[in-house]
Amino acid sequence: MDEENKHELTMRRPSAWSLWGWIVIAMGLFSGACLLALELLFDAASYLGALYILFALVIAIGVLLLGVGFIRRRRISDPDRKAAAVKVRFTLDLAKRSHIYSIAGIALTGLLVLVLLGFGSYKSYHATESVSFCGELCHDVMHPEWTTYQTSSHARVACVECHIGEGADWFVRSKIDGLRQVWAVTVDSFSRPIPTPIHNLRPARETCEECHWPQKFIGYKEMVRTYTLSDEENTQHRLRMLLKIGGEKTGFMKGSGIHYHMLIASKVQYIAMDERRQDIRWVRVTRADGSVTEFNDVDNPISEEEMAAAEVREMDCMDCHNRPAHQFKAPMTSVNMAIEQGAIPRSLPYVKVQAVQALSQKYETTEEAMVGIANDLRNYYREEYPQFLENGNEDLAEAIDAVQAIYRASIFPMMNADWSAYPDNIGHHYSPGCFRCHNENLRSEEDEHIFTKCSNCHLILAQGESIDDVNVDFRTGLEFVHPEDGSTIDEYQDCVDCHTGGGGVYE
Ligand code: HEC
Ligand code: HEC
Ligand code: HEC
Ligand code: HEC
Ligand code: HEC
Ligand code: HEC
Repeated sequence: MDEENKHELTMRRPSAWSLWGWIVIAMGLFSGACLLALELLFDAASYLGALYILFALVIAIGVLLLGVGFIRRRRISDPDRKAAAVKVRFTLDLAKRSHIYSIAGIALTGLLVLVLLGFGSYKSYHATESVSFCGELCHDVMHPEWTTYQTSSHARVACVECHIGEGADWFVRSKIDGLRQVWAVTVDSFSRPIPTPIHNLRPARETCEECHWPQKFIGYKEMVRTYTLSDEENTQHRLRMLLKIGGEKTGFMKGSGIHYHMLIASKVQYIAMDERRQDIRWVRVTRADGSVTEFNDVDNPISEEEMAAAEVREMDCMDCHNRPAHQFKAPMTSVNMAIEQGAIPRSLPYVKVQAVQALSQKYETTEEAMVGIANDLRNYYREEYPQFLENGNEDLAEAIDAVQAIYRASIFPMMNADWSAYPDNIGHHYSPGCFRCHNENLRSEEDEHIFTKCSNCHLILAQGESIDDVNVDFRTGLEFVHPEDGSTIDEYQDCVDCHTGGGGVYE
């Protein structure tokens, strides 16, 4: 045997600590490899990836045990125990095949540990960031937000872009909060519906404004709405208007519009008395010229003590755009859309009212709702319009399908999630929205209120059965013709006194 190739290694028998360390590491590696194989074989849902961090943790514990074993061994210094320790002799002979295999084995295991650790943390990071992790893992809990998200204009924007944003501190905060949420789901202690707004949501400045530039001048945005009235013929009523969004005009022109006044030229702060920020009782505006006005509720003024205890919130994008990704459409809205698109046949007498009312019933589960909706509509037409069922008319079946689809897409009884739990703050038709502040109750010391003039926010260009011809003064627009009785509404009126978004308006 060649002397140069012969090395001697003297090693003591491994302690119980190290032995356990190796066992734990092997377990971690093995489970990680199994999961990887599973994922590759079956293309499993990506949230399985969250488990990798668990295995990485197991491996880390193994390494820790090894470390303890090593330290303990070094501490044993007294000669008796040293002598008592069994000496194991290893001879390294590179000429021997088996020895080369051993070295290669150890090196490969080390490499594998490194790769798996890296891969594990990468996978877990991506899994918990992934849209399907947020939307599908907590299936029942997130189902409403997930469903509404998929049809929103932000369906291609990852949950984390709005909910977490850039930066390590928010990432860590969200993970800690995430653990609390996972716990709440495990022990079934979460609230139904999930409370809104999210009180520790990252400020819009750091999320929305990463993509949307608040100064951008948007100008007038045309909005066309098609309503269906409550008469037997389901008459169509249309509305065409310009929303004055505006923004900052750079250079030679002065800014204007909703965005300009709210975001750029003024700072608006407010106090809401309820969790959902619907009951606003105090507002302060600080204008570009430095002037300040405070508005307090005349019927129910906020007291000094309430003021001291309250959270003063500065208005940002989310106070108007609170449903950019999860809009729970009101039955009135979705039925109007479905009739306009032909999914619900307009030829069915009174179908607008019937559909809205079927969607406004309370049900315990979605399955119950499917049966209930079908029964409601069938019974109504069987009693009032039996000829529809006799002549083999398909319209009723079509209408039932469409109404059921609306229910599944916008009402989630398991989570008590619907349009009334999650009001939309844009507009003022089915929830208070802009009228939370733009009303006649909040008054300044000079007894003035924040403006409520319709044409300050939008100009009506045309309305009625047809909106093709526009012949208006662009400074004032038309007065709004209320479809209920053809009267005009040109002064402040709280629409939600009658309109709830559901069947309530017909009572
Ligand atoms: C375009 C930005 C955006 C995206 C993308 C987004 N969200 Fe949201 N989300 C919001 C806003 C804004 C709120 C309401 C917060 C508020 O009013 O304070 C919200 C609220 C929520 C709530 C609380 C309940 C509610 O409806 O108010 C949950 C749960 C939620 N989102 C989950 C998700 C999940 C899961 C995803 C990805 C599938 C996602 N979000 C994607 C902006 C977003
Ligand atoms: C990752 C980029 C991104 C982020 C973050 C983002 N958006 Fe958007 N947003 C978009 C894009 C892209 C569109 C255009 C989508 C289209 O036209 O279909 C859009 C469209 C919109 C629209 C117009 C369409 C509509 O639904 O009315 C509004 C309003 C809006 N975003 C508000 C917000 C708000 C509020 C936030 C923060 C909570 C936000 N966005 C965060 C990219 C983003
Ligand atoms: C005072 C309420 C209010 C605030 C605050 C507000 N917006 Fe808007 N915004 C509106 C209204 C009203 C519209 C037009 C109605 C609509 O699109 O539904 C609009 C429209 C938009 C649009 C769509 C423009 C288009 O071409 O379709 C975007 C994008 C948008 N806002 C982004 C933002 C961002 C980002 C912020 C925060 C920096 C913000 N808004 C703050 C009221 C507001
Ligand atoms: C939290 C209270 C609050 C909410 C909610 C609110 N506003 Fe305002 N708004 C104000 C205050 C305060 C002013 C400044 C009034 C002043 O300068 O006297 C203002 C000013 C405006 C202006 C500027 C008008 C002008 O020409 O000077 C517009 C346009 C406007 N709001 C539109 C909206 C729209 C649209 C909504 C709903 C999407 C809305 N606001 C929601 C409080 C609010
Ligand atoms: C503070 C601003 C503001 C004032 C004041 C205001 N509106 Fe609006 N209104 C809006 C906004 C913003 C929308 C668009 C909501 C949306 O994007 O769905 C809207 C939408 C509407 C719609 C369409 C509703 C729908 O859901 O289809 C009607 C009708 C309407 N307004 C009538 C009026 C009348 C009548 C007045 C005066 C009594 C008035 N508005 C005063 C901001 C305002
Ligand atoms: C006194 C009660 C009452 C008030 C206040 C009221 N409405 Fe109505 N509105 C009704 C009734 C009832 C109908 C149903 C008429 C029909 O469909 O034949 C209706 C129908 C409508 C419709 C068409 C149906 C639909 O699909 O929404 C619009 C749009 C509308 N109202 C807008 C408004 C706006 C905007 C305001 C506030 C400025 C308002 N209404 C205030 C009672 C009211």
